[in-house]
Amino acid sequence: MCGIIGYVGNRRAAEVLIEGLKRLEYRGYDSVGVAIANAGTIEVRKDKGMIEFVSAQLDFISIDGHIGIGHTRWATHGAPCKENAHPHASLDNKVILAHNGVIENFTQLKNDLKTKGHTFRSETDSEVIAHQIAEHVNSMPPLKAFLKTLNELEGSYGIAAIFADDKDEQIFVARRNSPLVLGIGKGEMFCASDIPAMLKYTKTFVPLEDGDIAVLSANGYKVYTLDGSETKRKQITVDWNVEMAQKGGYPYFMLKEINDQRHFINETIASDVVVAKKLIEESERIDIVACGTSYHAGLMFSYLLQQRGKSAQAFIASDYPFIVKPNQKTLVVTLTQSGETADVLQAVRYAKKSGCKLIAITNVVGSTITNIADNVVYLNTGPEVGVAATKTFTAQLAIIYKIIFGKEKISSLSDLFAQMMEKENEVKQIAAQLKEKQNLFFIGRGISVPIAYEGSLKLKEISYIHSEAYPGGELKHGTLSLIENGVPVIVLAPTDDTLPKLFGNLKEAKTRGALIISLTNDEKTKAESNFYIELPILDPDLYPFAMVIILQLLAYHVSVLKGINPDRPRNLAKSVTVE
Ligand code: G6P
Repeated sequence: MCGIIGYVGNRRAAEVLIEGLKRLEYRGYDSVGVAIANAGTIEVRKDKGMIEFVSAQLDFISIDGHIGIGHTRWATHGAPCKENAHPHASLDNKVILAHNGVIENFTQLKNDLKTKGHTFRSETDSEVIAHQIAEHVNSMPPLKAFLKTLNELEGSYGIAAIFADDKDEQIFVARRNSPLVLGIGKGEMFCASDIPAMLKYTKTFVPLEDGDIAVLSANGYKVYTLDGSETKRKQITVDWNVEMAQKGGYPYFMLKEINDQRHFINETIASDVVVAKKLIEESERIDIVACGTSYHAGLMFSYLLQQRGKSAQAFIASDYPFIVKPNQKTLVVTLTQSGETADVLQAVRYAKKSGCKLIAITNVVGSTITNIADNVVYLNTGPEVGVAATKTFTAQLAIIYKIIFGKEKISSLSDLFAQMMEKENEVKQIAAQLKEKQNLFFIGRGISVPIAYEGSLKLKEISYIHSEAYPGGELKHGTLSLIENGVPVIVLAPTDDTLPKLFGNLKEAKTRGALIISLTNDEKTKAESNFYIELPILDPDLYPFAMVIILQLLAYHVSVLKGINPDRPRNLAKSVTVE
């Protein structure tokens, strides 16, 4: 998965591309490059590494020109290196493009091109697209050549391409199962994989739909479908400002986003759930599909629905088609903050084929899932840049609670989040106890279990410490063999009806020498703990919100104490657009 940015207008293209690429880095950051057209030639500069380093080394800013494209890469075909970095050029360097996605028939296309004398500089599927367009553009105008090529591609793509000989100075873009949004300026146009990359310059956008092609020039844009007929797409304006997509004074996006939760939660709570609530009430069976952090929110949803007698189950999206045969009576609910996760998209497409209705709970306006779902509920929590999901998780929980309990129940979340943030220094002290540990366990019961899973995932994602989470009762069925002197067990022990039994599990671990760290407001539990974070007395349904803030802060501080950049954990990316 990668990030694309394109610009045409009066500004120096290099400036816009560098700015956009910095905002897009969360989508992938193993290599980066730009291509800027000027007086019939296109200058391409690219290399392995992150934007800040590569753009300084190769002096991106010095490239003259008012039209260009840029790309930040996360390798799928071919290792991260200069040759495989985008943009890619045709043999004659007349067609240059940046691509996000996977071209499934690229080997066949590449072999055909080789028989026509093409040689390739990279191992990527993307380079093949540039060569294929160049093959066609000899005998037809750029738009036709672009269209013809797209019709020959199988797989997914977001593409931005420019042509050296194009006197009209146009950017040709396309999307299929990979995001691409146009940004509308005055006498200038932008395109990018997401909105924050363009926010510094405009607030008006056109999210393209799958199968769309657009041609951008300084004077405006036109959208076409794959058969070449012109079409219109809705313009949207967003009220995010640039600061909302930037760090706002915090050392890392993750910390900013943990702090942001108290500011954004009321906008989330205002989100419209009327249709979703009705569909859920009327459904006999509800399948919830999601991945990663969103799956944990999905699990919470299923627990709360099951507690109310509903037939509901949460599934890991990538496994859903192997397990379930949905039918027309099945309501599918997906939680996906990005709206672009490939595992989620394949699961919901599978379900839709069986005639299911689909509700999508997402944060990204114009994302692919919003075109597939029958009803969309937005998280309204502003862009999330840190790879580890934080505010989108609490926003997902808030939407779930609004559907299940109504708005009143969650009306004081903002205050609760503020109160929990005051515990940051205490959490930091506990983080110092954990940073050298190799293994760690989280336990909880009932609705604390999804939070234990989420706390564990957060910690392992960004601190690289091995951790697991269990319903407390499961410890004795295997995991207890791993508990020895000093092994931390984080116990989610609010005073709800799970506490008496969970306390027994705490004792089981303590007897074996575990270092007990609890999140609790119970005196007995505090007395048995080596460390604890005091929870306020709350409506028991709300403890998950209080505890997850602590666990997010804990993961963050362990990560920072270990010298890791929590915004960019190794091997992980924010939006995973391959299955
Ligand atoms: C990636 C991210 C996770 C996220 C998961 C699902 O693996 O690193 O943080 O939870 O994708 O993403 P989604 O956008 O579908 O919620």
